[in-house]
Order: sequence, then C-alpha cells, then structure tokens
Amino acid sequence: MKIKRIAHLGIAVKDLEAPKKLYSETLGLKLKNEAVVAAQKVKVSFIQVGESNLELLLPTQPDSPVGKFLETKGEGFHHLALEVEDIHAAVAELKAAGVRLIDETPREGAHGDLVAFIHPKATYGLLVELVQSAH
Ligand code: CO
Repeated sequence: MKIKRIAHLGIAVKDLEAPKKLYSETLGLKLKNEAVVAAQKVKVSFIQVGESNLELLLPTQPDSPVGKFLETKGEGFHHLALEVEDIHAAVAELKAAGVRLIDETPREGAHGDLVAFIHPKATYGLLVELVQSAH
C-alpha cells in the first residue's frame, strides 16, 4: 500500500474550546474545520500543523468509543491517522496479510473521507486509522 503522510493525530478531550484556544492562541496553530461524525458519536476539530493536523475528539455521548476511552484513560493521545492513496486496496492488503482490523470495510469519517481502523492488538498498542481523503 502507499502511505502518503501522517494525516492527523487524534486527541481525546472533554471540551473543545479550551484546547482550541491553547493550540491556536498560545501555540499559534491554525484552526481548520469541525465536523460531527454521527456514527461515532463524536465531534471533531482539526488544527493544522504543516502537512498534518491534530484532531481533537469530543464525544457527543458518554456511551461512545471516545466517551469510553475518556472514562478509562482520561484525556490524551488516542490514534494516529495515516493517509493512503486507495483505502479499499490497503484494507484488502492488510486482510490478506492476516492483520486484525476494527473496520473490515472502509466507512465514512469526517468530511466524506473514507476511514478504517486497524486493531491496536495488531500494531503493538497503537490505534491506527487509515484515511483516504475525499478531496
Ligand atoms: Co481520526
């Protein structure tokens, strides 16, 4: 598969406004855009860092993947997102290699992107999101 770049680092937070203020005003980064991913019960806010981004993840309900993460681990680093050229090919390649996936089929992420998560048990504890940009 062809991995193009680190698309973003996902960070679980309990509030969006305070971290957005820190990253934009104190660290001088650019707030990019926001989206609600209803299927994942999460609101995301992207902050540009050169070619990559930070993705702040705020659960819209406690009973959600990020809500459960916050409850057990607290705020902090959640996942690494790698941009791939062809996510269907990447998923097929990983399946053929016997790599355990959370998403066997790519699904819709923020802004119409296609995403698929690799199981952290397969990646030595790192939750990896593959993303194919819609743009
Ligand atoms: Co992400």
